[in-house]
Amino acid sequence: MQLSLNSKVKDVCKHPLGRDIVEKLLLQLGKSSWLVDNPIVGNLSLKTIKVIVGKKVGPGFFDVVLDLLNSELDSPRADIVSPTPAWWKEAVFYQVYPRSFTDQGIPGIIDKLDYLQNLGVDAIWLSPVYDSPNDDNGYDIRDYYSIMREFGTMEDMDALISGLHSRGMKLVMDLVVNHTSDEHQWFKEALDNESSPYRDFYFFRKSHANRNGHDDRAEHDSSISLGDKKSYDGKPPNNWTSFFGGPAWNYYPEQDIWALHLFSKKQMDLNWENPALREEIYKMVRWWLAKGVDGFRLDVINYISKFEGLPDGDDFIGQLMKYTGVERYFYGPRLHEYLKELRQEAFEPFKAFSVGETPGIGLRAGRLLTDEYRKELDLIFSFDHLEAPGKTRFDDYQYDLVHLKDHYVKHLNFDGGHGWHTLFYNNHDNPRMISKIDSSGLYAKPLAKLLAVLQMTLRGTPFIYQGDEIGAKNENFASMDDIHDVESHGIYNDYLAEGLGPEAAFKRILAGTRDHARVMMKWDEVLRQQGVNESDADLSVLRFYQDIIRWRRQTCACVYGTLEFLDAKTKDVFRYKRLHEDGNIFVEANLGINAAKSASQEGFMFVIGNYSDGFGDLRPYEVRVYEH
Ligand code: NOJ
Repeated sequence: MQLSLNSKVKDVCKHPLGRDIVEKLLLQLGKSSWLVDNPIVGNLSLKTIKVIVGKKVGPGFFDVVLDLLNSELDSPRADIVSPTPAWWKEAVFYQVYPRSFTDQGIPGIIDKLDYLQNLGVDAIWLSPVYDSPNDDNGYDIRDYYSIMREFGTMEDMDALISGLHSRGMKLVMDLVVNHTSDEHQWFKEALDNESSPYRDFYFFRKSHANRNGHDDRAEHDSSISLGDKKSYDGKPPNNWTSFFGGPAWNYYPEQDIWALHLFSKKQMDLNWENPALREEIYKMVRWWLAKGVDGFRLDVINYISKFEGLPDGDDFIGQLMKYTGVERYFYGPRLHEYLKELRQEAFEPFKAFSVGETPGIGLRAGRLLTDEYRKELDLIFSFDHLEAPGKTRFDDYQYDLVHLKDHYVKHLNFDGGHGWHTLFYNNHDNPRMISKIDSSGLYAKPLAKLLAVLQMTLRGTPFIYQGDEIGAKNENFASMDDIHDVESHGIYNDYLAEGLGPEAAFKRILAGTRDHARVMMKWDEVLRQQGVNESDADLSVLRFYQDIIRWRRQTCACVYGTLEFLDAKTKDVFRYKRLHEDGNIFVEANLGINAAKSASQEGFMFVIGNYSDGFGDLRPYEVRVYEH
């Protein structure tokens, strides 16, 4: 159904994307979704809402949202099916960030394969190792067909693949195809030569006419010399901002042209509208799959389709989401088409696995990307559970695990068996979750184990990030000099430009910097945790991970069991069962630091927990797993 200003709020909420967007906006505003579920509000037309909130949200808001909603005509299926078995539903994945896993690149990873196998890992997701000038640690690829020199050679890569396969493990590479480095041959040729076939692989645009009252007659006036045009103070082609600070456009004075980069100035967005570009990408993906790679993690893959004409982003949405323009590409009109094509042309012939990184994608849009019958992606990473409602990564606050429970209760049974979930708390883009929950570090160990239990017993595929298995915490960076990440520096400069003092700006960066997760893996701590001959009372996080992964492997309920939440409304305690014909499990977790009553179930026997025994009241962040 096409929506218009005459549609009612409840019609918007029935629309799969509409509901996601409304929930996201309310989440950002820290408001409950009760607001729109209440029948009085539900029956109001958008026209009326526009009159009520028009001043606050600005004139274009409703048109932008309607454009977006009307670009999606499908809804997820309502029938319920049993999930089909797949290796990647049963597997435990482990993300390796090659820059800091060891300091030996790919040979260093090969050295650690026995360690990973002992941990119980089935597959690794390897962050980019392709040739790159490293403006964004390899997420700016210069050549998809070669390996970054400091990480090794293609022979090392082949050895890694066979080292994994000989251990019965799989390799998932990072696939960064929303953008390339500005040092990629395609971009260099495209910039230098207007009639290069690569020109249309990217988004090159002239200055925007009259933006903010600016008169850009220089662009059209042939009487103005090239020299003058070079110094011409034009405005970017649209108002989109970069995730790494500043505008999303880089100006090239020599050519008097702008090019789009949603990330750093050296990460140039690729134009997926161009079939020749898409074919180059499919060819490259097939090349890697033919080498033996088992699948890909697709970097910001939901950004590959941009709205035609790259229209300005809405200012209100921009302020709310902190980035202007996102609604023009986070769920573009051709996204599904491209993903289906990529799957059919490249993944399907190799039965390759895919997990898409999809920031901003909500519950229903997520289903449209992953439901098996749609043949797009196998899994996605969405990030709503990593921050509390209304908070962003750069807010300094204490994360309450009750949000996590609410998130899971809402999400994990929503797919009707058509789709599957990812279970993760950390990656190379986020500060460490246990520090977000407890910055004092007092409860770091029980918390690390609690997260491990949730990850191994909820319905979905676990992705461990390097260091999770030793309970890695945030770092004590003292100043911006300790921070290396391009994102942190870009955002820090934005804060200063907005008028924040250096100290306050640094405090925000400290809360959210990706560098917390990018410091060298602490192998001395691994040794310590392996070596200590601990009693059960003080089992190291590492040995706990090994135990619980081993137990998960032999417990079908953890993977394919139906998931039943119990006492979903009881704050602070999270209880659920996984039911399977081969045996059931029951998990209860105290989500806070106050003692809580245990509700062990009839017939269930204690298997594992994060305290020495499984008796009495639940202690701070205590989790207990039982089976029957
Ligand atoms: C998401 C990646 O995870 C992140 O590390 C990177 O900076 C951006 N995409 C850009 O590639």
